Amino acid sequence: MQDAPSTTMREEFADTAAGLPEPFRLWLRGSCASTNDEARALGESGAATGAVVVADVQTAGRGRRGAAWFGAPGESLMFSILWRPDEPKPLWPRLALAMGLAVANACERFVPITGLKWPNDVWIRGRKVAGILVEAGEDFVVAGVGINVNTHRFPDGIATQATSLACEAGFQPERAAVLASVLERFSNHAGRIGRGFDEIVAAARQRCVLAGGAVVLRTQTGELLRGQCDGIGPAGELRVRHGERVLEILQADDVRPVPNG
Ligand code: BTN
Repeated sequence: MQDAPSTTMREEFADTAAGLPEPFRLWLRGSCASTNDEARALGESGAATGAVVVADVQTAGRGRRGAAWFGAPGESLMFSILWRPDEPKPLWPRLALAMGLAVANACERFVPITGLKWPNDVWIRGRKVAGILVEAGEDFVVAGVGINVNTHRFPDGIATQATSLACEAGFQPERAAVLASVLERFSNHAGRIGRGFDEIVAAARQRCVLAGGAVVLRTQTGELLRGQCDGIGPAGELRVRHGERVLEILQADDVRPVPNG
């Protein structure tokens, strides 16, 4: 189920849509279940790389680990990019870090200091401002992004952990400007998941909020491990010292800093 965008939404994104660099094209939705599903459907029907689905409302927006994603209509920026990488498939997971950096860079235009909570949450002053969900299809990737742009009220369950650009900047950024900024950065960073990935890693390292602190991580098998985070390694992995060993975490269900750890 999807609804057409309102006139207001069309107007809001008109300038951005008209000025987008290649290969991006905007697909506006008033409402849909999830922009990731919409972008996946476009991918499966053969749409070209660079389709960007933006929704005002998601009725089943989702985050990592199957969590629901809260997006305030008209205030959050929720979109998904259909991307057909030139690089071999084993490198596609690196797009998560590339997108995390693109979103952090875009947020930095409005709030100078942002952090990356590996693998790809964007934090400001210890609170989450954006989340990213990267999903692969057969011959494409969908990179879904939710950014709290002008949200001032969050549901009880996340109110103490979430923030928005408006809350941090003290003014209301335009969602279309934030989107244009992410796309500009993403087109640069996405081309560096093969050659040039060291530049992505170096920039991500500078923003890594976990580096140097104690962390608890839940592995893919459900095991809980506590260790000391050594930051991000050359392949984009999180390095965690656990006893005598240094673990190289490529995928974890959940990694959290230990408060005062
Ligand atoms: C996370 O932090 O767990 C990832 C959140 C990703 C949310 C975005 S909103 C746009 C896109 N559509 C979805 O259903 N999810 C992503």
